[in-house]
Amino acid sequence: MSKTKVAVIGLGYVGFPLLCAIAKSGKYEPIGFDLSKEKIDLIKEYKSPIKDELAEKLVKEIKYEASNEPVILKNTQIFIICVPTPVDEQFDPDYGPIISAVQTVAQYIIKGSYVVIESTVNPGTCEEIVLPLLEKLTKLKAGIDFELAHCPERINPGDPKWNVLNIPRNIGALTSKGTKYLADFYRSFIDAPINEMETIKEAEATKIIENTFRDINIAYVNELAKSFDVLGIDLVNVIKGASNKPFAFMAHYPSCGVGGHCIPVDPYYLIERAKKSGFDHKFLRSARTVNNSMPEYTVNKLLMALNERSKAMKGSTIALLGLSYKRDIGDLRESPALIIRKILQKDYLADLRVYDPYNPEQSTHKTLDEVLKNVDAVLIATDHTEFREYPNEKWANVPIIIDGKNCLDKKKLLSLGLTYRGIGR
Ligand SMILES: NC(=O)c1ccc[n+]([C@@H]2O[C@H](COP(=O)([O-])OP(=O)(O)OC[C@H]3O[C@@H](n4cnc5c(N)ncnc54)[C@H](O)[C@@H]3O)[C@@H](O)[C@H]2O)c1
Repeated sequence: MSKTKVAVIGLGYVGFPLLCAIAKSGKYEPIGFDLSKEKIDLIKEYKSPIKDELAEKLVKEIKYEASNEPVILKNTQIFIICVPTPVDEQFDPDYGPIISAVQTVAQYIIKGSYVVIESTVNPGTCEEIVLPLLEKLTKLKAGIDFELAHCPERINPGDPKWNVLNIPRNIGALTSKGTKYLADFYRSFIDAPINEMETIKEAEATKIIENTFRDINIAYVNELAKSFDVLGIDLVNVIKGASNKPFAFMAHYPSCGVGGHCIPVDPYYLIERAKKSGFDHKFLRSARTVNNSMPEYTVNKLLMALNERSKAMKGSTIALLGLSYKRDIGDLRESPALIIRKILQKDYLADLRVYDPYNPEQSTHKTLDEVLKNVDAVLIATDHTEFREYPNEKWANVPIIIDGKNCLDKKKLLSLGLTYRGIGR
């Protein structure tokens, strides 16, 4: 008996590990489709197109087919769409990649097909945008001729513990029969609970509330950081203190900004959809405003520290450490470090050096020792392990450190006589 053909559309941080997981089960005929020829060329050679430990390991153990030609999707029974859901410059949701992926798969949908959206979308996207488009293009009836579902991805790139194989999932389809069938499909290759939601909208909403929850909590501590900077209280110590409450407190930490393809993007999907229905998400908008203000706030700390030493930003030699949005990965999407780099270089005309071990092509120097030689100040925008583990004594030659991730030992550095400023400390 031939195996069920399963196609993953969009082979990035979400889609590629998923393709690997499906292939690893050995139960299906796995297919990958992506518009990027560059990615497909790598994938065809069984090389991971993303820097991800699990994907890099799995890709050596499995077999699949991949192409940037849509015809590879012919005879697919289960289509899983994992394309980006970005926002535009006005922070409005950009459904372009989802619509384009739906148009592609529509050509190959037949009676009995299943379409799953894994991309993060606002509640209503599947039924209001995807469903009518699929019905129009296929002339088939959703929920009768083919099934449509949402199974939001929760992957956390770089996480050593939680990955595509062990993160619990939620899934909701148009019909309960469809939900059950697809939940069993996910159970066949994921070793974690798969929760069957009552509706697609509820499934869509789970992911959005997870990420808005984080955005709001981070905004709260970022606002506290600004307040405690004025009050002269070390917020990091305060959060550590509050964290020993064994219930009803969850530690979040302030920093120079929120990055990545999810947290600074997803809230806008809910904000915009709710606005269309007449509800103003004031709290979410406010959280976004606070978090968006943090790169500028961090640069201001540097400006003030230089002023105290009678130096102007213009012409000062500044080392920006870290570009990626998160520790020990290279992902630059929505990274606050990129905004900081722009402000320092373009607005303040600093003599800027950059070092990120995960983004050597964007770095001006090859090593940390090299980039720190004769600088006026350092601004840490990513807490890469290399920076956190750099010996305290070696920082002593740097007059000013702005620690945008609160990742260094404040007490030790102050004892060395340099100017140290964190965010909220
Ligand atoms: N990155 C994360 O940590 C993460 C976690 C959970 C959910 N998500 C969500 O998953 C979705 C995908 O995110 P990602 O990080 O994997 O993005 P990504 O940019 O890493 O990968 C998306 C891939 O889709 C391809 N693509 C774009 N349009 C296409 C089309 N029309 N047809 C085929 N391929 C197309 C791109 O070439 C790219 O390779 C987004 O909605 C995101 O919000 C991301």
